Amino acid sequence: MTADLRIDGDRLLRRIEELATIGPIDGGGSCRLALTDEDREGRDLVVTWMRDLGLDVTIDGIGNVVATRPGRTDGPPVMTGSHIDTVRTGGRYDGNLGVLAGLEVLETLSEHGIETEHPFAVAFFTDEEGARFPPDMLGSLVYVGGMGLEDALDITGIDGAEVGAELDRIGYRGPAPCPGPAPRAFVELHIEQGPVLEAEGTTIGAVTGVQGISWTGYTVTGQSNHAGTTPMHLRHDAGYAAARIATHVREVAECMGDRQVATVGRLELHPDLVNVVAGSAELTVDLRNTDETLLRAAEADVAAFVAGLAADEGVEVEATTLARFEPVEFDDRVVAAVAATAERLGHSVARMPSGAGHDAQMLARVCPTGMVFVPSRDGISHNPAEHTDPADLVAGADVLLQVLLHLDACDLDGEGDAR
Ligand code: GLV
Ligand code: MN
Ligand code: MN
Repeated sequence: MTADLRIDGDRLLRRIEELATIGPIDGGGSCRLALTDEDREGRDLVVTWMRDLGLDVTIDGIGNVVATRPGRTDGPPVMTGSHIDTVRTGGRYDGNLGVLAGLEVLETLSEHGIETEHPFAVAFFTDEEGARFPPDMLGSLVYVGGMGLEDALDITGIDGAEVGAELDRIGYRGPAPCPGPAPRAFVELHIEQGPVLEAEGTTIGAVTGVQGISWTGYTVTGQSNHAGTTPMHLRHDAGYAAARIATHVREVAECMGDRQVATVGRLELHPDLVNVVAGSAELTVDLRNTDETLLRAAEADVAAFVAGLAADEGVEVEATTLARFEPVEFDDRVVAAVAATAERLGHSVARMPSGAGHDAQMLARVCPTGMVFVPSRDGISHNPAEHTDPADLVAGADVLLQVLLHLDACDLDGEGDAR
């Protein structure tokens, strides 16, 4: 009975630990920024695991890797997956859990000789984090046709490297076409990366959608000058202007209330010296909201503030959109299937939106999509201290397995609920 099928928790946990040893950083996390040597090493390990399972592995032009197990019939696969690139201060679970749990699902099916109706596939998408090459979710965006391959290959990263050249360098620019074929359905397992499930004592999140994301890069150009001799009223201080932008976006979020979040995650001053008024500054603003109208209002507020500040301080400010994605709602049938499956397996479940961006929000453009969340200790993520209880990791992977089996068997083309 496939309803009683469960993944091998020890095997899943072992693989998570092994992948985390690539690009290790203090505190037990990993640094595998997209398309670096560490990312290549992580990719090589996961691809080896995929090939060892006899899966058909394809690599597309943006480096997305898809491993497929055949079904009774050909056609679009039931797909799962996530990413294995990390931020510079990555934990061991962000993205990695979804990929390795997907692999575990496919291995479990093979081990038990289960024939599915449709092919099953597990993918890892390139540069989900966007920390080196904005925008985030770049690989899945290209996979669904949201950005042309050539445009994506031309993107320059924060270190001056280019996506195309780095893909060639690490040997992951593959022949499979972009955009890729739409799956039958897509479900991503991920850690929550926030405090809600833990605070409520809930094991499984049935994710209803992903909030909108707006990333802007600012370059402020003023005049560098002597810190001791330049009277305050004659300064064109890029450092001061950058600090004002940082404090203003915080105020915008606080005024708008808890659905609005705002972050200045990068701030660089030049020449970055104690006795020199900063001549230029680079900073990033990350605004997010589940409501598109409110997100636009936050963007407009920040833009107006920056324009006024530039005039007042006599500095130039150049703004570049680094990422802009509207809020996404997942397919009701998939959300319901996640919630019902979690309950059937005896877990507490809550419906919730995602605060973080995910590859699933891109896949939602082309097929019925949903996500499964498991709790994050203290709500900490993008930090080596990121932690999820092993029992919760295994619970999430079991829910993933059963939801994927359900999506294999149910009538997704007909009307009504998928159950
Ligand atoms: C991607 O992980 C993001 O939400 O920033
Ligand atoms: Mn992630
Ligand atoms: Mn992340």
